[in-house]
Amino acid sequence: MSDLSPPPVVLITGCSSGFGLLIAARLSSKGYQVIATMRNLTKENALISEVNRRQAKVDILQMDVTDKGSIARAVSQMAGRYGHIDVLVNNAGYGVGGFFEDLTDEEIRQQMETNFFGVQNVTRAVIPLMRPRKKGKIINVSSVAGFSTSPAFGAYNASKWALEAFSESLRYELKFFGIDVLLVEPGTYKTKVFYENARYAKGFDNPQSPYYSLSQHLRKKVMAYVEDSHKDTEEVAVLVEKLIKAKNPPFRNIPDLEGQIVYILRRCLPFRVYSWMIRTMLLKGFKRSS
Ligand SMILES: NC(=O)c1ccc[n+]([C@@H]2O[C@H](COP(=O)([O-])OP(=O)(O)OC[C@H]3O[C@@H](n4cnc5c(N)ncnc54)[C@H](OP(=O)(O)O)[C@@H]3O)[C@@H](O)[C@H]2O)c1
Repeated sequence: MSDLSPPPVVLITGCSSGFGLLIAARLSSKGYQVIATMRNLTKENALISEVNRRQAKVDILQMDVTDKGSIARAVSQMAGRYGHIDVLVNNAGYGVGGFFEDLTDEEIRQQMETNFFGVQNVTRAVIPLMRPRKKGKIINVSSVAGFSTSPAFGAYNASKWALEAFSESLRYELKFFGIDVLLVEPGTYKTKVFYENARYAKGFDNPQSPYYSLSQHLRKKVMAYVEDSHKDTEEVAVLVEKLIKAKNPPFRNIPDLEGQIVYILRRCLPFRVYSWMIRTMLLKGFKRSS
């Protein structure tokens, strides 16, 4: 931060690990006033040691994006401390793997509660702290899964596609008040979302499911791909910092080449060709291995 104005106040959700942790650590080390939120404060040590390593400082508050009470408490604490919010990064999320018929209604609803309604809950609470100053940025962490799909990721895809539609519409609405709405759409990065935080449909590992062998094949395929992915997760934090600084940033922002290629293919190829490519890639080896 170069001038003498107070540092921008940034609220980030889901900071116990992954992108959220790194965005919080990076921005705080660059002089931003970061309010890092997480639903379970017993997980704060990873963030604290990363922030200490960078000789920075963050405020940490409890917030579960599906719990409106916890959002109201955190936002009112912030309002009391800073009076406003300059940037909101809606990052918290997870993905549930599984074919539609292996998923319960409840699992699909929970996916939407976090990745879609969770973003709406936090955004609704924060906009009043941006509007009076006629400025602000809302950065929603979507995914390549927000504009493309694959089998066994339908619930996650639906949550991110919904997030993208909401973000696009909200962008028009909040323009009137000087507030910008942006998307960050990462490709695959090796974070806890694929490991400790991975969730699977109730029927995923049920050998009686008609999808059983396909599910097992796809999990192996996806995890081999994730294991092989050596991208630096910090790239997402670098991009978020760039978007906060930019005067007129684009709506869609993809940090990695893989994500950018998927975006171009999805937009430019006829759907018949694109979907053939996805099927071929995912199902390659399936007949031989099952
Ligand atoms: N990694 C990728 O390849 C990738 C690609 C595209 C998009 N994304 C998106 O990036 C975002 C961050 O994921 P990540 O890769 O960094 O995974 P991660 O390491 O698993 O981080 C996810 C974070 O979200 C939090 N979270 C989950 N449900 C929450 C809730 N109800 N309230 C508050 N926090 C909650 C988790 O908290 P707990 O520790 O309490 O579970 C954790 O802090 C997600 O929206 C994900 O969909 C990831």
